Amino acid sequence: MSTDTSRPLPLLALGAGTDLRTERGVECPGDLPPASDPALVARARAAKERLGDKVFVLGHHYQRDEVIEFADVTGDSFKLAKEAAARPDSPWIVFCGVHFMAESADILTSDAQTVILPDLAAGCSMADMAAIAQVEDCWEQLEEAGIAADTIPVTYMNSSAAIKAFTGRHGGTICTSSNAKTALSWAFSQAGDGQVEGGTGKVLFLPDQHLGRNTWARDLGGSLEDCVVWDPHRPMGGLTLEQLREARMILWRGHCSVHGRFTVEAVEQARREIPGVKVIVHPECRHEVVELADEVGSTEKIIKTIAAAPAGTRWVVGTELNLVQRLGEQFPDQQIAFLEKNVCYCSTMNRIDLPHLVWALESLDSGRVVNPIVVDEQVAHYARVALDQMLALPGETHRD
Ligand code: 13P
Ligand code: SF4
Repeated sequence: MSTDTSRPLPLLALGAGTDLRTERGVECPGDLPPASDPALVARARAAKERLGDKVFVLGHHYQRDEVIEFADVTGDSFKLAKEAAARPDSPWIVFCGVHFMAESADILTSDAQTVILPDLAAGCSMADMAAIAQVEDCWEQLEEAGIAADTIPVTYMNSSAAIKAFTGRHGGTICTSSNAKTALSWAFSQAGDGQVEGGTGKVLFLPDQHLGRNTWARDLGGSLEDCVVWDPHRPMGGLTLEQLREARMILWRGHCSVHGRFTVEAVEQARREIPGVKVIVHPECRHEVVELADEVGSTEKIIKTIAAAPAGTRWVVGTELNLVQRLGEQFPDQQIAFLEKNVCYCSTMNRIDLPHLVWALESLDSGRVVNPIVVDEQVAHYARVALDQMLALPGETHRD
């Protein structure tokens, strides 16, 4: 490849050695210590060995390499929720992921088990875009407008336990990016039909408007005209009664601050610059971006799709950078680039680092539980109803 650095920065190619045209200024040569302090790595290993079967470490695919190394299981949100539920013999579950995932693990495990989040500041900006008071307020307005009777809530895993409980109380289901299609189909089969004059069954999709829209339009073949966006900061969500009556999908105005930054221009640039490239993106990306992609799926699906591709396949990947970098290293016989050079890591996922993991493990080893995630029992009860509904979706075993 050319080493001309005068042109604007193109795509960030990953994992296949240094390409000076794309990776200008990213190299860090010289006699420097490794990224993870070897003494800390040894402490993590020793603590984990001493704890043995008493601890089970779950790692989301967006975690740093230094953390993933210590995960007993890695996965997407759905796989990790199931893995947590399947470990009744581990008294301690250390969740290397973000807060909503650890809450779900707490809900799905027994009272005798404790879920630990090594850094409590590991939240999710999308989950924070829906507060329970706003959601209750929205529902009340839908009730007053006579819309709620025909509406089933479908809530993305990326939400607080309180919103999952709201979903359980109102006969809805949780979904993840790997089962959103099944969840939506189920919800429409449950939603009332015709109770509102001229109306049809509706879904209130929380809190990611993009996953809701993409699943409706791409997977269920629905029309974009049937989607409206509920803005929690405006009366009646900023919508008219007529708009609400006609809608099939009421999408909460939330999004992922990482995936929302991938652009159509980046996809077009990739197609121009890399002949035969395949574009694979997460469904949290905006609809225009998803429309242009060759493949769309959860983190687990992205990994499996690339793993199954023949050597020499060229990819640009639109999801979190830790995962894409790891894919570049794991599949050196494929060419893997990051879709958008201006997109950064998920800063909250990155809060979990090796020092925090070592602190959590060594504390457990000395009999002290740090950062336990405990969901209030009443909230947990109804949140479990919605999570169990997801786990019982038709034909639901883990899918991509
Ligand atoms: P997955 O369920 O696909 O792992 O996604 C979780 C997430 O937070 C993506 O931003
Ligand atoms: Fe939340 Fe986006 Fe980070 Fe996923 S990538 S945890 S949706 S902020």
